[in-house]
Amino acid sequence: MKILALRFLALGDGPMALRHFIDLDLLSPKDIGHILKSALKIKAEFLKKRHKARKLCEGRVLATIFEKPSTRTRVSFDVGMRDLGGSCITLSAQDLQLGRGESIADTARVMSRYVDVMTLRTSAHQNLLDLAQFATVPVINGLTDRSHPCQILADIMTFIEKRGDIKGKKLAWIGDCNNVALSFVHAANQLDFELYIAAPPEFGPNSAMREAMAINPGRVKLAAQLEDAFKGAHLVLTDTWVSMGDEDAELRMKVFSPYQVTSELMALAAPDALFMHCLPAYRGREVSAEVLEGPQSVVFDEAENRLHVQKAIIAWTLQAI
Ligand code: CP
Ligand code: NVA
Repeated sequence: MKILALRFLALGDGPMALRHFIDLDLLSPKDIGHILKSALKIKAEFLKKRHKARKLCEGRVLATIFEKPSTRTRVSFDVGMRDLGGSCITLSAQDLQLGRGESIADTARVMSRYVDVMTLRTSAHQNLLDLAQFATVPVINGLTDRSHPCQILADIMTFIEKRGDIKGKKLAWIGDCNNVALSFVHAANQLDFELYIAAPPEFGPNSAMREAMAINPGRVKLAAQLEDAFKGAHLVLTDTWVSMGDEDAELRMKVFSPYQVTSELMALAAPDALFMHCLPAYRGREVSAEVLEGPQSVVFDEAENRLHVQKAIIAWTLQAI
């Protein structure tokens, strides 16, 4: 029910509707395409003119709230908002009254009186939905236990820059069916690429992912063998075996050990295949150092694009693009 209500809010029915950025399946392919195109334009302009680039969000204030650690998301939102001519307040949930039990609903209503847009990184996706429900300013998903849509738009932007349109391409997700993977399933449904998932049965798709996979049967496939996911793939992706909040690290290390992305497995992919990882990466676990540091790896371009795509996301939520 809450997700349906948010779909209405996210898509809106007029110029005054709030544009939340909660999940890629709540946006239209047109909006996703618009954000990606704008990100490429914003980046090109920024690289050419640097600090003389257009100030799309002049005078606006972003608050980012973190319940979990972050390097890329924290810094790229802050710097991105400054580049747009606005300012950013970075907050740890522990430093807010939220950390002492003030409700999300009250936090949302108070913060909405001070700032123009908010980003939340939280352990429970429901907290993000509650924030969006009670806020009167747009809310952006900065990673939850369910999804990480900002990351996936940066990844797709990076693919487009290097290889062109992602439509019809084969992507391989190797390892944990986690928050990053779910956002890729949403993106596959919206942007028409094929996604092969190779995961151990113990950590296969959860109910949210199975639901998303059922929307376009055949668009996202579970690979019977690890090698099937790699064969002919244009983009190979993985993530840490132990996400923030996972408490079964020992079991995960054991079960995931055959799923390391190695040069031998990458050799099965298309000759010009790219390798991406949202970072932080653990060399010698989910990916070999050779692949991560090798010529097919674009992980630092991917990290850089968090900055540019998030500028477009902020500007989109504020109806500035
Ligand atoms: N990829 C990503 O979201 O990184 P951080 O956890 O450092 O923000
Ligand atoms: N799946 C990882 C992503 C980190 C950016 C986590 O949630 O910890």
